[in-house]
Amino acid sequence: MSFRRTATQDHERSGVHIAAGDKVLLSYASANHDDRHFPEPERFNPSRDPLDHVAFGGGGPHFCIGAQLARMDLKLVFGELLRKIGTVELAGNPQRLRANQFAGWLHYPIRATAV
Ligand code: HEM
Repeated sequence: MSFRRTATQDHERSGVHIAAGDKVLLSYASANHDDRHFPEPERFNPSRDPLDHVAFGGGGPHFCIGAQLARMDLKLVFGELLRKIGTVELAGNPQRLRANQFAGWLHYPIRATAV
């Protein structure tokens, strides 16, 4: 959800001065839900266009080196699920993972039917 970086040089961003040596928290989760940029940011919309989220970073020198692998993995996983699963419904109380680094679920019980 976020990474902390240390500024290597003085920088001005959106009227905020960042001095060399300052610690900066980049909140990718917050940027990806920015309603000034994404219409209906809370709605799951896999065909959003343009799909210019920053889940893997903003394109700088630290851009996620595993982005292509992760995208391929997710396409394979969802492709297989869509081929095999007909319906999905909630079958219990989901329990969120409480962590600063990752957003996710500890338990998300579902009932699924085959195609
Ligand atoms: C859905 C899965 C993943 C997400 C959401 C994700 C997200 C991110 C983000 C947000 C960054 C920081 C980008 C920046 O600061 O500009 C990052 C960096 C990185 N990721 Fe991923 N990542 C994923 C999967 C992977 C995988 C599969 C690998 C390795 C096989 C990987 C390896 C790395 C490495 C090594 C960096 C540090 C790059 C650097 O600092 O130069 N990631 N990732």
